Amino acid sequence: ADEGMWLPLLVKRLNQADMQKKGLKLTAEEIYDVNNASLKDAIVQLGGFCTGEFVSGQGLLLTNHHCGYDAIQSHSTTQNNILQNGFFAATKTDELKNPGLFVDILVRMEDVTPKMLEGITPQTPEATRMATIQQRQRELAAAAKENGQYVAYVRDFFGGNEYYLFVYQRFGDVRLVGAPPEAVGKFGGDTDNWMWPRHTGDFSMFRVYADKNNKPTAGFQDGNQPYMPKKHLPVSLQGVSEGDFSMVFGFPGRTQRFLPAAGLQMTLEQSNPARIKLRDTRLKLWKEDMDRDPALRLQYASKYANIANYWKYFIGQNEGMKRLRTVDQKKAEEAALQQWIGADATRTAQYGTVLSDINQAYAGLREYNLSSQYVNEAAFGTEIVTLAARMLPLYNALKGDGKMPADPAAAKKAAEDLKEPVEEYFKDYSAATDKKIFAALLGLYMQDVPKEQQPDVFQLVQKQYGGSMPKYADYVYANSFLTSKAKVEAFLAAPTVAKLEADPGFKTYQSVYQNYVQNILPKMQAQQASLVRANRLYVAALREKNTQKVYSPDANSTLRLSYGTVRPYKGRDAVNYSFFTTGQGILEKQDNSNPEFVVPPKEEQLLTGKDYGRFADKDGTLHVGFITDNDITGGNSGSPVINGRGELIGLAFDGNWEAMTGDLAYDPELKRCINADIRYVLWCIEKLGGAKHIVDEMTIVNNGPNPN
Ligand code: ARG
Repeated sequence: ADEGMWLPLLVKRLNQADMQKKGLKLTAEEIYDVNNASLKDAIVQLGGFCTGEFVSGQGLLLTNHHCGYDAIQSHSTTQNNILQNGFFAATKTDELKNPGLFVDILVRMEDVTPKMLEGITPQTPEATRMATIQQRQRELAAAAKENGQYVAYVRDFFGGNEYYLFVYQRFGDVRLVGAPPEAVGKFGGDTDNWMWPRHTGDFSMFRVYADKNNKPTAGFQDGNQPYMPKKHLPVSLQGVSEGDFSMVFGFPGRTQRFLPAAGLQMTLEQSNPARIKLRDTRLKLWKEDMDRDPALRLQYASKYANIANYWKYFIGQNEGMKRLRTVDQKKAEEAALQQWIGADATRTAQYGTVLSDINQAYAGLREYNLSSQYVNEAAFGTEIVTLAARMLPLYNALKGDGKMPADPAAAKKAAEDLKEPVEEYFKDYSAATDKKIFAALLGLYMQDVPKEQQPDVFQLVQKQYGGSMPKYADYVYANSFLTSKAKVEAFLAAPTVAKLEADPGFKTYQSVYQNYVQNILPKMQAQQASLVRANRLYVAALREKNTQKVYSPDANSTLRLSYGTVRPYKGRDAVNYSFFTTGQGILEKQDNSNPEFVVPPKEEQLLTGKDYGRFADKDGTLHVGFITDNDITGGNSGSPVINGRGELIGLAFDGNWEAMTGDLAYDPELKRCINADIRYVLWCIEKLGGAKHIVDEMTIVNNGPNPN
């Protein structure tokens, strides 16, 4: 179908007719309604990074395996390795608590553009505008929180041309209910990641708990009960056919479809190559140690998966940009826009310099962008630097930060606040591994970034360690207290400025951070300030030029709906992909000597015996995955795929290789959304996992062919 991650609030106005034409049987009110239960009440944002949906009246939540991965790993030990073996809670008391994990459920959203922009004109100085906007954002959000009852924020859309307010309930007691073995939940590993055809059972299950009045609690609380959602999704056993209506409801994180050619070019030529190179180095070093030591393999599993996921994403994005000539296409659009602007005096007055402003800003950004990438991916790619950074509030409270005097009470609290994160940090930390990463990544930082932009600490490395980062790493890791849990705990019990300032780990962080804040960031901010204005006008001009096109706003981690159909695609010349995969494909890919393609014995036995039960398709096979042309991105992971009647038919979990540029430029012929067939998910729970009681909690329906 079409590009578009639509705001559910606007469906009635923008999309209803088109959706119904494609097969939707629900009304706009059944999708989004503030006063009555609607589809939106079944959708949650999980932990701020993924999507989940209620599939029972008792708060049972489905999401992806890769969304639950960190939680699953946290409950795993080499003795009781539920990441490897899978886990299904036999009863509610067996469900596993996840401190820190929360879900947000949307209460309402509101177009606050008129309130936000009141009195602001094109003549308003940019700084005044920004201050006014920030002030109003704070005020509107504060009012909507209703004394802390809700989480609320205002987000900008279309580069600051529109604003919406979002009000959520936040539930902080979310327990793990089930997950398949990693060999199912991550079948195909990084080799298959971002690719179709796919055979991954990418699901896990949680349950949301609330207090006796069904109200959210900040964390686990004794006496909490399963949350009773206003709405949960019925689960369809019907399966899908080509052309069936499909809707994906969830929380897409970030797209940049309005990124100008100069921005695309900077990503292609500078940002992505740096990210790929640094991640490649980090992943190889991690893997060496993980392959050597099963305990370390478990400790670093989630970190590795996260870094690997976007490592491959950046590779695919660059490959795609070259293949699809994305920069040239954008340049052609911009030339047409410039011509349209120039054809009219009013437009020229309003937008005349927009594109040259943009290009100038990017030329300025490019001088510092590499530094910024290396701070993120190299310096903060080491764990010791991230731990040191967490000490900053404590350090500032102990020392006073220029504006504020030292504050012993605040310092006490800051030290207290660090105890839990420190505990968690060291649970999965190997100083020996981190030292290798430090030597390699900071070595590349020193080698690749312009000398005049480097932190002072590199001069020390030159002078005292002969320019050898490995030698400097030896010194840092032998002498920093940040490498040992016991030492950090001892420090937190009696923290002093002197101890922190003398620590070589903290000193390294401070040098990198201060250099960034004093020498890099201000230069970039100056360009970004002019970009904010230029981008806003650029988007406004585009929308004004192309009045016939209904633009959907870029993703920004707010609730969106995308609709389309079940649809195969042509990947490249002479290559056509079917729209579904089956259990047979799992056996075809099976390679028990390759950790990414292991098929557990029980699964092999069930698949070989074609034991599909009621989860078989009408064609007699077990459907594992299918594709649709819904427009999704990261953050949508775990989103429900819903048929025209509002029934769950799949779980969205990935995008396809041919359209990895999708977050920057949308190609309707190539872009597909990769989903786990819900019947395969149920099969994994009931047949493979022996947890029929969990399936029985759901509302299973079989209402005949999907409408289309
Ligand atoms: N590419 C998927 C996404 O970002 C994540 C898939 C996780 N699987 C993996 N092999 N890392 O939504």
